[in-house]
Amino acid sequence: MAAEIIAITQQKGGVGKSTIAMHLGAAFHEKGKRVLVVDADGQNTLVHWASAASDEASGIPFPIVNLSEAGAQIHREIRKFVSDYDVIVVDCPPSITEKVSGVVLLAASVAIVPTSSSPADYWSSVGLVKLIQQAQVMNEDLRAVFLLNKTEEKRMLTRELKRALEELGFPLLKTQIPTRECYKQAMALGQTVLQMTDRGSRLAATEIRACADEVLAMLP
Ligand SMILES: Nc1ncnc2c1ncn2[C@@H]1O[C@H](COP(=O)(O)OP(=O)(O)OP(=O)(O)O)[C@@H](O)[C@H]1O
Ligand SMILES: [Mg+2]
Repeated sequence: MAAEIIAITQQKGGVGKSTIAMHLGAAFHEKGKRVLVVDADGQNTLVHWASAASDEASGIPFPIVNLSEAGAQIHREIRKFVSDYDVIVVDCPPSITEKVSGVVLLAASVAIVPTSSSPADYWSSVGLVKLIQQAQVMNEDLRAVFLLNKTEEKRMLTRELKRALEELGFPLLKTQIPTRECYKQAMALGQTVLQMTDRGSRLAATEIRACADEVLAMLP
């Protein structure tokens, strides 16, 4: 069985693409999937993150591969790994002017678009939505969803926001990822919240697992 490819993509910077990519990878790994996470962004956030661990035993327990130099050939590089993994999660760069996101979307079965609840964030998704819809013409299997990240706890998502996102063309995952300090700590420690034991991390881990279950249910 060839690996399913999950693209984490959004043209806006800082919305949590790398955080979501690493944590979904961790949740799939915990469920026994053979996981590869691809760093497709020249900032190399995931490569740096994985190398921040103090030792191998406490670090990221699945491989991260740096394909940020592959450019528009990245799909060929990813293809080399598909027979060895069940799931390949790709952390895409924030720009859609480079070819990387478009090419990854042609090979992916799921695209996850992290966004905050700020209108500026989701308005900036319009170009990306078009890119995904273009990819869907050639790649009929591609399904796309928004994922609300950095939400404020206890504040309900307004019906208006949900409708505004869905009007852009894709559904919203039921699970939202609240703002939690532990995500920054995890990055600094070279870990994910699934390996951390403080209360915030345990809550975060539950949310990440729920999100991963929703994404797995979308796979063919
Ligand atoms: N749910 C969250 N709660 C708290 N902090 C978060 C959360 N998600 C992301 N962050 C923090 O926000 C910052 C940006 O996140 P991240 O690097 O994942 O975004 P990105 O979309 O990959 O950015 P870029 O576009 O630069 O690649 C990081 O410091 C990260 O730790
Ligand atoms: Mg990033």
